[in-house]
Amino acid sequence: MRVERRAPRQQAEGPRRIGTDPLRQFQEWRAEWVARSPADPAAAVLATVGPDGRPSARYVDLARVDTGFVFFTGYRSRKATDLAVSPYAELCFGWLETSRQVRVAGPVERLDPLSSDEYYSRLPRPVQLLAWSTDQRSVLDEPLTGRIAATERRFAGQEIPRPTQWGGLRLLPESIEFWQGGPADVPERLRYRRTEDGWTGERIAP
Ligand SMILES: Cc1cc2nc3c(=O)[nH]c(=O)nc-3n(C[C@H](O)[C@H](O)[C@H](O)COP(=O)(O)O)c2cc1C
Repeated sequence: MRVERRAPRQQAEGPRRIGTDPLRQFQEWRAEWVARSPADPAAAVLATVGPDGRPSARYVDLARVDTGFVFFTGYRSRKATDLAVSPYAELCFGWLETSRQVRVAGPVERLDPLSSDEYYSRLPRPVQLLAWSTDQRSVLDEPLTGRIAATERRFAGQEIPRPTQWGGLRLLPESIEFWQGGPADVPERLRYRRTEDGWTGERIAP
């Protein structure tokens, strides 16, 4: 007997409707999920590979989609140093309320400094202070609040410039895969690959 461990998820429309533009499909699925008011609609899991060949995964917030999938982080963090050595990553969006997953894979580049400046300048001041106060790496021997207060004193009464060790990364999608849970537990998977002529899609076994 099958035991249902949670309330059945509401089925959203499957990838049958997917056209030839996976980026547009991504935005449509994302909008449908965001309409459900999740706590952090931008969150996605980013997987990287370290110099020792070991994977690591963590959440990041997707800042935007332009020519790629842009997120911001400390350039001394493990994810950034992993990417400096092995510049390929995968982002995994888990839109579980709609029984959907989207995986986006490809090479990662640094955002140009001016674009990072522009994004940083629009962040709330506490987030700007945090970017100066943590390298997202070192072991803390004192509470971070002390560093944040020191940074606040340093920039008191001024705009805070972007720390050079913090900025954007852009994953340039080479493949985008949509997974949709379906009625009677038969999921669908549709994978797009970027070719010289645009995107080509294929249905693959779930
Ligand atoms: C929902 C959520 C969103 C997050 N967004 C970011 C982000 O946009 N950038 C970032 O550097 N860390 C973000 N973090 C923290 C990372 O998951 C991670 O702890 C940190 O970046 C250090 O990761 P690393 O040591 O693997 O580089 C987020 C965490 C959560 C739970």
